[in-house]
Amino acid sequence: MCNALLKVEDLTKQFGGLLAVNKVNFEVYEGEILAIIGPNGAGKTSIFNLISKLMPATSGSVHFLNENITGLKSYQVAARGITRTFQATSLFDQLRVVDNLAIGRRVRTRTRSWDAILHNSVWKKDKEETTLKVMMMLGFIGLQEKPFHFVSSLSQEEQKRLAIGVALMSDPKIILLDEPCGGINNDETEGITQLIRNIKEAGITVCLIEHKMRMVMGLADRIVVLNYGCKIAEGEPQEIRSNPTVIEAYLGGGNHC
Ligand SMILES: Nc1ncnc2c1ncn2[C@@H]1O[C@H](COP(=O)(O)OP(=O)(O)OP(=O)(O)O)[C@@H](O)[C@H]1O
Ligand SMILES: [Mg+2]
Repeated sequence: MCNALLKVEDLTKQFGGLLAVNKVNFEVYEGEILAIIGPNGAGKTSIFNLISKLMPATSGSVHFLNENITGLKSYQVAARGITRTFQATSLFDQLRVVDNLAIGRRVRTRTRSWDAILHNSVWKKDKEETTLKVMMMLGFIGLQEKPFHFVSSLSQEEQKRLAIGVALMSDPKIILLDEPCGGINNDETEGITQLIRNIKEAGITVCLIEHKMRMVMGLADRIVVLNYGCKIAEGEPQEIRSNPTVIEAYLGGGNHC
């Protein structure tokens, strides 16, 4: 499990006078679950935004499968097999569960406007493949009873599951999960934790941001800890749990780097 799938080197993001991400280095190995933790405002989501190219880095680089993807656009990054979910779920509220899943497949389909108008063979092939994939995904995320429910009628936990399903529809090599258990109760957290285990078992690498420490400690293979934009620790859960710098950061202390 030691091939670096994703490599972040000296990654930096400056907003005016604020260094949200400050020369951060880490690797995500193929097949693992890597958790990124840290207090509010530590720079966790910013790192996902830089990797998925929602915003450009001030400096530093991101490599994926040994390719420098720092200058790519977000759709190019998605096409290479990097997908993500958002801290606040970003689903289409007025659409049904199946519609949201189908939209998640768009990065892998070839249908253009004319194909859709003419209902030609390209359109038919995409439609069949997407329908099959949607049916499989409904079962995988545990929403097989609610395919035609509108997003607005789903619970917070079901929306979190659906957002993960939408991300998985693109057949990613790595999925970046930003607080998949934010705003849900303990039982629901257990369910999402199992879903993340299943994602790993399906051969997809996971990079996870989460505040729920018990969940992170039980799920992650390795943990990267951020504070004030800097990486302050990295290691296996048992090392991180007893690391004095990490404890100090969580108790409100910790130095700016
Ligand atoms: N677009 C932006 N413009 C200006 N400042 C920003 C922007 N995005 C993030 N920041 C700032 O960068 C810092 C890091 O924010 P970020 O959202 O990455 O933190 P986080 O670790 O994800 O926090 P949380 O756990 O609360 O989600 C914060 O001080 C935040 O206010
Ligand atoms: Mg965040």
